[in-house]
Amino acid sequence: MLTLQAKKFETISSSDTVAILCTQEQIDSNSFIPQPLSDVFAIINTKTFKAKPNTYFFAALKDKPSILLVGLGSHKDITPESLRNAASVIVGACSDKSVSEVHIVVPEINVTNDTARYIAEGVYLANYAFNRYKTQKEETSPLLEKAILLSDNPGQLSPLLKEVSIVCSNTLLCRDLVNEITENANPLTIAKLAKKIAAQSKIKCTVYNKKDIEKMKMGLLLAVSQGSMYPPHLIVMHYKGAPSKKDSIALVGKGITFDTGGINLKPSGHIETMRTDMAGAAACLYTINAIAQMKLPINVYTVIPLAENMISHTAYKPGDVFTAYNGKTVEIGNTDAEGRLILADALSFTEKKLKPKAIIDIATLTGACIVSFGEIVAAYLTSDESLSTALFNASETTGEKIWRMPLYKEYNEEIKSDIADIVNVPAVRNAGTIIGATFLKNFIENTPWAHIDIAGTSWYSKNRGYNPKNATGFGVRLLYEFVKNFGVR
Ligand code: BES
Ligand code: MG
Ligand code: ZN
Repeated sequence: MLTLQAKKFETISSSDTVAILCTQEQIDSNSFIPQPLSDVFAIINTKTFKAKPNTYFFAALKDKPSILLVGLGSHKDITPESLRNAASVIVGACSDKSVSEVHIVVPEINVTNDTARYIAEGVYLANYAFNRYKTQKEETSPLLEKAILLSDNPGQLSPLLKEVSIVCSNTLLCRDLVNEITENANPLTIAKLAKKIAAQSKIKCTVYNKKDIEKMKMGLLLAVSQGSMYPPHLIVMHYKGAPSKKDSIALVGKGITFDTGGINLKPSGHIETMRTDMAGAAACLYTINAIAQMKLPINVYTVIPLAENMISHTAYKPGDVFTAYNGKTVEIGNTDAEGRLILADALSFTEKKLKPKAIIDIATLTGACIVSFGEIVAAYLTSDESLSTALFNASETTGEKIWRMPLYKEYNEEIKSDIADIVNVPAVRNAGTIIGATFLKNFIENTPWAHIDIAGTSWYSKNRGYNPKNATGFGVRLLYEFVKNFGVR
């Protein structure tokens, strides 16, 4: 993983590479050259460089530091996200030029006080590749080993860089787990991994196996898993950073390690990426790890139902009826709407047994969410205004974008069943994301609750700025920021 440091400008030596982020206005007025580097700029010609976003200029010099100019675009267009993305250009350029250690001049732009944070985040998050299954390592692009932010007051930056390193390294670990193949990321291996993480980070962890789940009568989690060779598991983790307080926040993550669709089998074109269906679980796992590593003074639960939605002769079928943990009966309208089933049991268990102050679930729940928001924005639904505000604020801070959808009670009519209390998918398939959340709402009695649908944002079909193609790790930074501010202390 990347080492992030802060140092004074004077520490630069002639063998170093210095990255300078500059705006078009700074280029036009020739005011982008840091004073200590003026002798270097005297001998290089930067005239062709216009500081447009996503562009860079590189000059390798003998006996002087090498220079990397990176465009920020126009001053008026600078945002936290544009700074993170510009920082990702530094990473790409260093990879192209095989530079493994870079010094970065933090630009003085009076847009935000957090420029250093956004640049550090962008560098950390862009510096990622999933190469585990490449045997020809020469074909993989090299990553940065060290990024050093140049500052007059390096000591001031170090707590910030520590937090960025912890939260972003957990985001990268989340990506790794979601990218991992099902042979190595299934209900058994993820339960083991949770135990290992918990032991390292002083988190309490209980793993319930199939027998326990049968005893607890989680009929929906059992139904979804019954076609698979992997038995279901339920992970409960508890981090107590505020031992004197009894309130906790609970994070619940969908852990379908592969979603074939079951008997309602997914077609080609939709099934290939379905190992991403545990991205909610992975986000919860690494959020609680980040919180524990930062020793935040708050209490958090993470609850993860794990199953594989497999097609087989033992698989559950459309038209079947199962009894949930909370006693409600559920008709299976479609075996591909499995996420809401395992979450239903996990949510009522969380409310009844753990009694948290608030519950947030995060899930790759509906393809309809991608229809609404594409891969850029996650949907969130809640009836609680203070949760809504806190989640949205965390989204604005982190750049992990979420947008609210309504949960009007009229939608309840749609999931009435002829033969059971409710059905997991209505015959007419409108408002898919809202219907998914409306189903989940039936399994919460009165705890403030919010649902986040990350079907689009957890997996990218192409590289976008500091997020790579495939697993994005979406949710770790959002939930960390939310719990940090909302948690009881
Ligand atoms: N895991 C999928 C949702 C999904 C789709 C996640 C694309 C990531 C990318 C979920 O289990 C599912 O299959 N949902 C169905 C629901 C339908 C049967 C009501 C869907 O969206 O088609
Ligand atoms: Mg499905
Ligand atoms: Zn699914």
